[in-house]
Amino acid sequence: MVAIIPSTSIITPRHVAVIMDANGRWAAARGLSRAHGHRAGTERIREVIKAFADNNVEYLTLFALSTENWRRPRREITSLMRILSRTINKEVHPLNDAGIRLRYIGKLDVLEPTLRRRIEDAVLLTKQNTKMTVCIAFNYGGRAEVVDAVRRIVDDGLTPEQITEQTIEGYLYTDDLPDPDLIIRTGGDQRLSNFLIWQAAYAEYYSTPTYWPDFGEADIEAALTEFSKRIRKFGGLSSHNKSSDSGENAN
Ligand code: IPE
Ligand code: IPE
Ligand code: MG
Repeated sequence: MVAIIPSTSIITPRHVAVIMDANGRWAAARGLSRAHGHRAGTERIREVIKAFADNNVEYLTLFALSTENWRRPRREITSLMRILSRTINKEVHPLNDAGIRLRYIGKLDVLEPTLRRRIEDAVLLTKQNTKMTVCIAFNYGGRAEVVDAVRRIVDDGLTPEQITEQTIEGYLYTDDLPDPDLIIRTGGDQRLSNFLIWQAAYAEYYSTPTYWPDFGEADIEAALTEFSKRIRKFGGLSSHNKSSDSGENAN
């Protein structure tokens, strides 16, 4: 497929993170169950990954379940676990064939052992791939991530003087990922909902009313075009629309 926007004409975000919201509203609008909405949502994933890869995005993080989503009825949580498990089973080989490296962020240890193993195996299988990194945020919470980081820092016996921003970054789940440049939220709400609260400090936000199961190439094109118009300054004065890895030195 031809890239939606020629990579030479726009500034491409290196890392895009997506809050895949509004599966429930999509289902309700059709008189279907919420589980139907979640299933329809996962069916978008393969095409969305391909479209971002075709647009030279290097890292794509997908927010699929938050630590706060456990407040939902048990039945919905169980169906979300089952849907992720089936999705991994179905998608891991096509993604591997397409050169995608899978990565996980979140609290893996409380997931059911079979699902946990499936995630670990998918990460291991795709470890050497270089086309794009797709990071699945499942049972992820930004505050839980910071708590985990602080616990490990204390456990490692670091002194206050040893702690810098880089130290903390090294203890986050995202230790080997650049900060997101663009955060897209589907469903129209304008909040982070505990997603990448540290890493999103200088991310550009883009909210679309499109429900996640309807999200496709036109939305991706609109988001990337909008991103290319944003002026990023990272606290400095001149315009910098460079990806996160160069942000610290902008002036
Ligand atoms: C996003 O869709 C998926 C998860 C949070 C697991 P929702 O289930 O939040 O859908 P809405 O927001 O209720 O429509
Ligand atoms: C955020 O959506 C989490 C995911 C999309 C996985 P929520 O639906 O949980 O967010 P709130 O509750 O509306 O803030
Ligand atoms: Mg929601």
